[in-house]
Amino acid sequence: MSHQQLYPVTQAALARTYLTNEQYLQMYQQSIKEPEQFWAEHGRRLDWITPYTKVKDSSFELGNVHVNWFSDGTLNASYNCLDRHLPAKANQVAYFWEGDEPGVQKAVTYQELYDEVCQLANGMRSLGVGKGDKVTIYLPMIPQAAVALLACARIGAVHSVVFAGFSPDALGSRIVDCDSKLVITADQALRGARTTALKDNTDLALGHLGAANPVKHVIVVKHVGQNIDEHAGRDVWYHDLLAAQPKHCEPEPMNAEDPLFILYTSGSTGKPKGVLHTTGGYMVWASMTHQYVFDYQDGDVYWCAADVGWVTGHTYIVYGPLANGATSVMFEGVPTYPNVKRIAQIVDKYQVNVLYTAPTAIRALMAHGTAAVEGANLSSLHLLGSVGEPINPEAWHWYHEQVGKGQCPIVDTWWQTETGGALITPLPGATALKPGSATRPFFGVIPAIVDNEGNLLDGTCEGNLVLLDSWPGMMRTVFGDHDRFEQTYFSTYKGMYFTGDGAKRDEDGYYWLTGRVDDVLNVSGHRLGTAEIESCLVAHEAIAEAAVVGYPHDLKGQGIYVFIAPRVGVEPSDDLTKAVKEWVRREISPIASPDLIQWAPGLPKTRSGKIMRRILRKIAANEHDSLGDISTLADPSVVEHLIENRLNK
Ligand code: WT7
Repeated sequence: MSHQQLYPVTQAALARTYLTNEQYLQMYQQSIKEPEQFWAEHGRRLDWITPYTKVKDSSFELGNVHVNWFSDGTLNASYNCLDRHLPAKANQVAYFWEGDEPGVQKAVTYQELYDEVCQLANGMRSLGVGKGDKVTIYLPMIPQAAVALLACARIGAVHSVVFAGFSPDALGSRIVDCDSKLVITADQALRGARTTALKDNTDLALGHLGAANPVKHVIVVKHVGQNIDEHAGRDVWYHDLLAAQPKHCEPEPMNAEDPLFILYTSGSTGKPKGVLHTTGGYMVWASMTHQYVFDYQDGDVYWCAADVGWVTGHTYIVYGPLANGATSVMFEGVPTYPNVKRIAQIVDKYQVNVLYTAPTAIRALMAHGTAAVEGANLSSLHLLGSVGEPINPEAWHWYHEQVGKGQCPIVDTWWQTETGGALITPLPGATALKPGSATRPFFGVIPAIVDNEGNLLDGTCEGNLVLLDSWPGMMRTVFGDHDRFEQTYFSTYKGMYFTGDGAKRDEDGYYWLTGRVDDVLNVSGHRLGTAEIESCLVAHEAIAEAAVVGYPHDLKGQGIYVFIAPRVGVEPSDDLTKAVKEWVRREISPIASPDLIQWAPGLPKTRSGKIMRRILRKIAANEHDSLGDISTLADPSVVEHLIENRLNK
């Protein structure tokens, strides 16, 4: 890594930045040496109803893990995103919404957003929803998605957004887990001219739950205009509900540690976990990182091309930019529809200054040479961002040259659903860049690298990435299962939060993320648990055993490689393979659909019956020459069979 290229801070970035490198270094030192003073000061970037006097109270000690920030302060997140901007910004655009189909668009000002949030909040209160109630949001990327989040925040309801690509069963299990009273959905979603019947899916999900169904009402946005089955007494049209509601709604005063939202994410074991974020610390983190990482300044047009179904959408489409009074682009569609020029055309159309997207999208465009950027004027861009997976240097350079025309710094932001916002990231006016490195920690973040025994490593090293102390934006618990929170994040290495990621640190103290070291896959920036896919597979009638591993994939980063053993009497066939793929798509989501399915009479196991995934990973990666020690295998011939019939040659 010593010969890597260095991209110094550009003059243009330096000319407009909040922070130079010296200021970053000085502030960073203060943030970790005097966290109380540092965060007492920066917490004041929000408007508080009751100012806090306490700042930090946390412990990572197993058995006593707790994280509290600003815990005697009260505030309202929607007030911070809306009301406080109105005097100056009522007519400023909050969202330029760009529909799936070019030419379909809508601008929403801060006043309009405020009005609609208040109306929906009042409408929800009229349905009996209030502080502490859970609301599941299952919506496409339309302005009502932001409205729904903020309306929940306004009345103190806790939202749980479920990505619109998830199946009825995935939706249903998330509804039950958090005991949602209300679902907000739309008739259909539209992405790349393909529709998803969200309301039908909701009906199916609730139908399957039977007596366990906690949902009293379903609010339906008429978006595509499709007919829906109306369940009298339960379903209500969004537009009907809002019609009678006043455009003012008192924001509910919330304690800083009252929950703001739950967001389900996959881990290495079991079903998805409800990651719980609270109000004060999360909002401080969302707004502060949005300001400094994207060097956001009034007048900028900012576009985070993520989906509100993921944490990136929560923090960097809704809460961060709105807390800062920003103007954002919100895009309903996909980068490749109607063709690969779409992203560039949107940048051109709205004169976007900051573009934040994922390596998988960049690689999809890069696959078409320069076609994706031809004919569009991209000179409005001054900053680019990347998130979701390590960005390979090839994609970094293409992004830098073709999209940024060599002029725009790239902020490669490392973070997780659990962290609430960016933790390791360049700051455009302070950090010299190295392609492929997320560089240095944000304020208050203390990363470290440990070996497999949990020993802290010094200087340049490679190992497991941990975080040594809490930061305001971090998750507080796994909803309903604090023990799982402790076990998942704090039991691997004593007194440390384990990220699940591998990382290197170089001679400049820069961090290089190397990918997950646990059984979590990152497919096109989507996080999937192998255990989750495996349990779906073995629920299929033809399958006796299944093991799922990732393998390097040019476009997706990682592809999904499935090894399955059929039940006795089942003959594998192409049709059956197709049916298995279809099964996973339907039971979980198209994003979990296997890329390669290899049938095998058996899977490699230790004598104690544990599937040896290490070996399967090697075979899937076509690295079977270096299988390592297989002496503990119960039956080595299984491996020969697998290698002979491997699919990724
Ligand atoms: C995992 C978290 C961050 C919001 C979207 C994903 C990987 C994320 C980077 C990056 C290398 C990255 C990690 C992390 N990841 N950003 N810039 N460089 N890896 O959130 O679904 O919770 O996934 O995504 O492996 O643990 P998520």
